[in-house]
Formats: sequence, structure tokens, C-alpha cells
Amino acid sequence: MNTTVQLHPSLPAFSRIVYGAWRMNDGAGSTPAQALEKIELCLDQGITTFDHADIYGNYSCEQLFGDALRLKPALKSRMQLVSKCDIMLLSDKFPERRVKYYDTSAAHIEASVDSSLRKLGVERLDVLLIHRPDPFMDAAETGDCLDRLVQAGKIGAAGVSNFKAWDWSLLQSFMKTPLVTQQLEISLLERAVFLDGTLAQCQQNKVHPMAWSPLAGGQLFGQSAAALRVQPALERLAKAFGVAPDAVAVAWLLAHPAGILPVMGTNHPARIRALSDAWRVKMDRETWFELWTLAAGQEVP
Ligand SMILES: NC(=O)c1ccc[n+]([C@@H]2O[C@H](COP(=O)([O-])OP(=O)(O)OC[C@H]3O[C@@H](n4cnc5c(N)ncnc54)[C@H](OP(=O)(O)O)[C@@H]3O)[C@@H](O)[C@H]2O)c1
Repeated sequence: MNTTVQLHPSLPAFSRIVYGAWRMNDGAGSTPAQALEKIELCLDQGITTFDHADIYGNYSCEQLFGDALRLKPALKSRMQLVSKCDIMLLSDKFPERRVKYYDTSAAHIEASVDSSLRKLGVERLDVLLIHRPDPFMDAAETGDCLDRLVQAGKIGAAGVSNFKAWDWSLLQSFMKTPLVTQQLEISLLERAVFLDGTLAQCQQNKVHPMAWSPLAGGQLFGQSAAALRVQPALERLAKAFGVAPDAVAVAWLLAHPAGILPVMGTNHPARIRALSDAWRVKMDRETWFELWTLAAGQEVP
């Protein structure tokens, strides 16, 4: 199995395992030097693709990541950057907002991309995702804006996140450039997209999906009934492969024929260091279904 993937011929190769920056500034926060340490731990093990959004860390994570890169600008040439926009968060940074909403207008997308580029300190995002489907989207305006950003070189390509198949088709029908990925919630505890047509559409379009919260945001190691059913099998397999149980859960995603890119969110240096262990787990079909069955709490029909 390849540890890199080509989302589109015009883009650099992405690492199959992606590191997500959502939690990077959580807790007591992080200094640029601490963020740099996490970035380098990823790069050292071939995790070269980083996932951002304008809103992460209450609009702080892109700046933190960019400040880390300002300490070592040479790293920029070794990584691929993804960011997102359209969620308008209620935030002390925007006191005038009355409600959380989505904005897929050209004016907002353009302003958000410029802000992401400025904060990250780069001239181009490899991929920009529309973060959530916007029920007020003017697909002609949004599609044209994304095409123009590609043509202007500010983004390598566009993609979407959390879209249903019909949302994808609508936006793509108004675009000249191809949507190159769809970022979805996928884990042993969140399996809806395997059956609702979303992953089927990705495969039909030869599009590699990304999986956000691949460990269900840590809930896979919590106390829910489903988590408790899965944990003994993860532990058994982990022992057999000489890895931690989370690597088995990631291998479950990597094994799927859709070519899923798990977007990992741990902030813990020891866990970051072990992210690429998932490659050591060879998951056969029956084991894949064994984990599915335990998570679902019933055998497949
Ligand atoms: N497109 C979207 O709508 C969307 C939505 C959410 C997230 N995302 C992207 O997906 C990325 C990953 O999301 P995520 O952070 O929820 O992913 P995740 O990898 O499923 O969860 C990470 C969380 O699980 C905990 N964890 C990991 N291993 C653990 C273990 N063995 N035992 C107990 N806890 C464990 C981590 O804690 P420690 O830090 O202590 O390890 C962290 O809090 C984000 O950074 C973001 O880039 C996208």
C-alpha cells in the first residue's frame, strides 16, 4: 500500500496519513516552538499533509502553525497544506455576529483564503475545502469563485467536507476544475458514509476521501457500549502487530478500497510519534468485518 497518494495530477503527492491542526492550540495553548516540534514529529515519519480550517482554535491555529513555520521556513517545501472556510463561528473575534452560519459567497471565500495564506505564511493552499454544506449556497457563484482561485494559483484545487452526494454533484456541475477530495467523519464508531452513497460517489468519481475524527475524537477509547465492544479486539490485534490499539483503528480505515486519508488529531507527542505505526497492521477482509460487527453490535444482514 502506498504511503502517499495523488489526489489530482496537478497537485503534489499527499501523505495517506494526514495531521489535523484542530486541537493544536487546545488546553493551555501552544507556543510556536511546541507546534514546530509536533510538525517535525509528523514530517519525520512521512506525514507531510496538514489539515487546517480558518476557525480552528477560535481562529488561532493557522496563525500558530504559520508562526511555527516562521521559525523554520525551509519546512514549507516539505509539506502540503489543506484549509477550509464557510463556517461563520460565534466568536469574541467577531462580536458583531448574531448567529452561527455558513457563508459560501465569493467575497467571503476570497477573504478567507487571503487570511489563511497570510496566517500560514504561504503563497498557496494545496487544497481548499468548503467546510460544511451551505443551505443558502449559490452554486454558480461558489463554483466560479473556486475555479478563479485555482486559476489565480491561490489554491491548487478545491474540495468539500461533510457534503452529501447531491451537494457534491450540485457544486461540481457549476465548476470547470474538479473537486479533488471530500472530508467526512469516518471511524469505527461513525460508519454512515459507507452505506449512504457518500463513499460510493467518491469511488465512482475516483476521489480519495479524507476521514476526520478517525478515532471518533478519542471516544473509541471511552466507555460507550460500542467502544467497549471494540476495544478488546483492537487490543488483541495491536498485540499481534506490536502496535498500539489506535494504530489498528487507523489501519481499518487505510485498508478500505476507497483509499481513505485518515486525518489524525492527537496532540500528545508520544501518540504523534506513533501515528505511522498503522502501516504495520495488515488488515484482511474478515478482520475488517469483525471490527465492523463489534462496533455495530450485530452481524451484517
Ligand atoms: N471537516 C470537518 O468538519 C472536521 C471536523 C472535525 C475534525 N476535523 C479534522 O480532523 C482532525 C482530527 O479530528 P480529531 O482530533 O477529532 O481526531 P481523532 O484522532 O479521532 O481524535 C483525537 C482525540 O482523541 C484522543 N485520543 C487519541 N488517541 C487516544 C487514545 N489512545 N486514548 C484516548 N484518547 C485518544 C486525542 O487525545 P490526545 O491529544 O491526548 O492524544 C484527541 O483528543 C482535526 O484536527 C481536523 O483537522 C475536520
